[in-house]
Amino acid sequence: MIILKILLISILCLLLLSTVCFSYNIKEYNSTVKNIKKSNDDLYKEWNNSKEKERYEKIRAQYNKIYSFDKIPEKASNYEEQYNNILKKRDNNKVVNINITKSNYPRFYEILYNNTLEGHELFINFSESKYSGAFNEDHLELPATISVFKNITFYSEKSTIIDLAKLKEFSWFINFNFGANVQEKIYLKFYNITFKNYPNYPYLLYIFYLTTLTDNYQLYFENCKFINVKNVILNAFSCTSATQNEPQVLMNNCYFE
Ligand SMILES: *[C@@H]1O[C@H](CO)[C@@H](O)[C@H](O)[C@H]1NC(C)=O
Ligand SMILES: *[C@@H]1O[C@H](CO)[C@@H](O)[C@H](O)[C@H]1NC(C)=O
Ligand SMILES: *[C@@H]1O[C@H](CO)[C@@H](O)[C@H](O)[C@H]1NC(C)=O
Ligand SMILES: *[C@@H]1O[C@H](CO)[C@@H](O)[C@H](O)[C@H]1NC(C)=O
Ligand SMILES: *[C@@H]1O[C@H](CO)[C@@H](O)[C@H](O)[C@H]1NC(C)=O
Ligand SMILES: *[C@@H]1O[C@H](CO)[C@@H](O)[C@H](O)[C@H]1NC(C)=O
Ligand SMILES: *[C@@H]1O[C@H](CO)[C@@H](O)[C@H](O)[C@H]1NC(C)=O
Repeated sequence: MIILKILLISILCLLLLSTVCFSYNIKEYNSTVKNIKKSNDDLYKEWNNSKEKERYEKIRAQYNKIYSFDKIPEKASNYEEQYNNILKKRDNNKVVNINITKSNYPRFYEILYNNTLEGHELFINFSESKYSGAFNEDHLELPATISVFKNITFYSEKSTIIDLAKLKEFSWFINFNFGANVQEKIYLKFYNITFKNYPNYPYLLYIFYLTTLTDNYQLYFENCKFINVKNVILNAFSCTSATQNEPQVLMNNCYFE
């Protein structure tokens, strides 16, 4: 009997103790949660009022304009439609030579855009020793997306310098867009070109921004230089399935500083 009483009392004591402990723990837990919530709110307020947020939102808007995920089906079918139109054209295998001079360089995107849409293979010759400045386009919204359907060669005889310091903020040098279902692998080739003075975040994002629905392409750089580049040289979307084993980017005899 006595043993039973002792047992009962000790069980009661234990229950009481655990209730006290439990409510104590809840209190502590509640106050920790409160503190975390407060510091989150403070951080959020700080972020909300910062210049960083403004920049972040500009960058996000830029991405969304070019390639938000919910626009992929629309972009894919646009690409396919353009590609099918190109295949119907007769002068399909023509290679168009274009000289880029100081006077047409400000319209470089537009020249690329118009000519890729025509479906020609392009040979772009940078015929001057140096280029700089912002792009100024009449009918394109910057940064323009260049949809690529055929090979393009970017060439200069004597290692021309393309100075990127004056590009538009919150953009990139070129956004190349590759859709799926092209019959021939597409090569973008760069020979003897020096890219110089690419500024730091957050003003510009990448030199090359590749939005791709396929891996059936290759960027090939030969004798190219990247001097005083303070941001990412190349950013590519990955495709969903691998169709081949060759690399998507090759740098041959290139120099980085
Ligand atoms: C802990 O927070 C909850 C919900 O906010 C509240 O209902 C509860 O009374 C609090 N407990 C203590 C011990 O402060
Ligand atoms: C942050 O800013 C948005 C509007 O830009 C506002 O709706 C929101 O209440 C703000 N939040 C804080 C915690 O200041
Ligand atoms: C480009 O420039 C070279 C040399 O100046 C010239 O021979 C060629 O015809 C030009 N090509 C075009 C398409 O203007
Ligand atoms: C590109 O095409 C547009 C629309 O056809 C035209 O207005 C513009 O002048 C062309 N630009 C160049 C550089 O050829
Ligand atoms: C490229 O331009 C340079 C300078 O104008 C010229 O001498 C050369 O012939 C051109 N090359 C090609 C392949 O068009
Ligand atoms: C595209 O470039 C690759 C690699 O240089 C070449 O093998 C292929 O024939 C080119 N395609 C066309 C249509 O000329
Ligand atoms: C330019 O490129 C061609 C083709 O790759 C190469 O033969 C030539 O030597 C290069 N010139 C310079 C100055 O790098």
